[in-house]
Amino acid sequence: MKKLNIALVGAGFMGKAHVIGYSNMPKLFWPAPAMPVLKTVCDIVPEIASEAKERFGFEKCCTDWHDVVNDPEIDVVSICTPNNKHAEIAIAALKAGKHVLCEKPIASTLEDAKAMAEAAAETADKGIISMNAYQYRRVPAVDLAKKFIDEGLIGDILNIRCTYLQSWSADPNSPLSWRFQKSIAGAGTLGDIASHVIDIAQYLGGDIDQVVGMMKTYIKERPVQEGGVDLLGTVKIKENAVKKAVDVDDEDSFLVKFKNGAVGSIEATRNAWGRNNFITFEVHGTMGSLTFNYEKLNELNVCLANDPDDRRGFKTIYTGPASPHGDVTWNIPGMNIGYGELKAIEMYEFIKAVAEGYQPTTNFQVGYRVERVCDAVKESSEKGTWVQVKD
Ligand SMILES: NC(=O)c1ccc[n+]([C@@H]2O[C@H](COP(=O)([O-])OP(=O)(O)OC[C@H]3O[C@@H](n4cnc5c(N)ncnc54)[C@H](O)[C@@H]3O)[C@@H](O)[C@H]2O)c1
Repeated sequence: MKKLNIALVGAGFMGKAHVIGYSNMPKLFWPAPAMPVLKTVCDIVPEIASEAKERFGFEKCCTDWHDVVNDPEIDVVSICTPNNKHAEIAIAALKAGKHVLCEKPIASTLEDAKAMAEAAAETADKGIISMNAYQYRRVPAVDLAKKFIDEGLIGDILNIRCTYLQSWSADPNSPLSWRFQKSIAGAGTLGDIASHVIDIAQYLGGDIDQVVGMMKTYIKERPVQEGGVDLLGTVKIKENAVKKAVDVDDEDSFLVKFKNGAVGSIEATRNAWGRNNFITFEVHGTMGSLTFNYEKLNELNVCLANDPDDRRGFKTIYTGPASPHGDVTWNIPGMNIGYGELKAIEMYEFIKAVAEGYQPTTNFQVGYRVERVCDAVKESSEKGTWVQVKD
């Protein structure tokens, strides 16, 4: 079986998720499209790099990403750094002939996102694969919703309502990590989590054409943490830590019009006490409705208009072997999958695309389009008007 040598750049929260995905993919999907080999882990912090080598089982570690991009042994570069580093590393890696899986959002600025999409388009001609890590569209229940929509089960789509609600930054004393600094993150909630549901909305409903919305920052300063790793608000801060300004959004709400005539809404916040990873959608069609909540990610709810009046209502389908990516979902639907299996599905899609030589559904062109929707939301929030998403 073909082997692919993997280099991981950035060994924080998402670095671990990528390793779990690569390691478990062949155990769940067999025969695997190719065998990922954990070759080199790179982190700018030497202790994180050497710990990751030992913990995750990489053969080598380093602290300068140029070393993996210039290493002829490396086939694939997985980018898990903060957002402002994505473009530089991804473009260099693509130009060096490496396949690239880059975390989302694609970049911290629209200009960088465009440059990445252009580099990916140029290198695609030479068989180089690019992918952004919009993994939530690959949840079997979400893919099942897409299948039902494509089959016409719920008729023409009228409305798609999405939320992504979390609570981890609701505490004003949670640290000012890189996620709250525009120069590193690019945006706050918008790029961090609204981008995921923009991707899901466009996956299910086609391209978003126009948006009108608002963005808000509730917590205007936070205590500065030491060190660059974020770990989603769980890093301990000193008692007398100095506070600095937050210059990104906490909450975003916007209405959308899809190119196909459907409408919808998207809301995202990291300040919703009691909500953890509350990714939801409702899709209302002329012949039925679908609903999903990631906190119950193994379930898709379906209501069909043609059911008799006395028994019309939502039924719950538990995803399992009969669902998309059924290989990963254990033998009995109620056995359930979680985030680890989801990252294995993502690595399966990526490695399969690399092995078979096609661009996956979340390639850099798709990531760049999500970024253009985000950019239109920012412009709309400033102007208070509907804004056209740039094609
Ligand atoms: N797909 C998802 O659901 C999801 C979830 C969380 C984070 N993310 C994305 O993953 C990326 C990383 O986020 P995270 O939560 O893992 O952050 P993190 O802070 O936990 O980890 C980032 C790591 O990158 C390292 N790093 C920083 N600059 C570097 C450089 N120049 N070279 C090498 N290493 C460098 C840091 O030392 C740190 O170990 C971000 O783009 C984020 O938006 C995606």
